[in-house]
Amino acid sequence: MDPAPSNPTPPLQSPSPRADSSAAPAPPTRVLFVCLGNICRSPAAEGVFLELLATAGLSEAFLVDSAGTGGWHQGQPADRRMREAAGRRGIALPSRARQIEVADLQRFDHILAMDADNLAALRRLERQVDGGARIRPLVQHCRRSHAEEVPDPYYGGPEGFERVLDLLEDACAGLLEDLLSERGEAAARLDSAPT
Ligand code: 4NP
Repeated sequence: MDPAPSNPTPPLQSPSPRADSSAAPAPPTRVLFVCLGNICRSPAAEGVFLELLATAGLSEAFLVDSAGTGGWHQGQPADRRMREAAGRRGIALPSRARQIEVADLQRFDHILAMDADNLAALRRLERQVDGGARIRPLVQHCRRSHAEEVPDPYYGGPEGFERVLDLLEDACAGLLEDLLSERGEAAARLDSAPT
């Protein structure tokens, strides 16, 4: 478990979506980014998304975390090369690595995988639960890039970290836009539902 989550893991039970829609704020949308080691791509995605939320004044509307399908780096900060590359863009990466657990599939609404291997690992976990998070590749939300995945930069040079951040900035902006439009549609449905 992340000893110092940048945005704490939410409880298993979320509040009822509508006790009184005129008074209660919408529950936060819970978003988990997943890669292999949770020291390069997914903590960077978490940092990029948190920065977008802060800029938009939406930090309270989302709960954000990241995890790895592997547990080798458990407890470690993000890779120094990734932190430095993100820092040059004004993005902090505060998270500590943790391994995904099956309960995450019920704690989160949306799980975004960085590559096909991460996605396959998540699909295997998904077989152990009934319902839960919507799982998909993060690059599905890209607007400008046409990448198949967010490539693993760990064994490559500095340009790989820049490429990851370029993709994440595009994909996370698209993700936020898509999640906000879903939230808006859900709120509209609740508002028009008979009481
Ligand atoms: P990440 O990158 O999945 O983006 O965190 C990696 C980090 C560590 C390793 C591989 C990929 N590793 O082999 O230790």
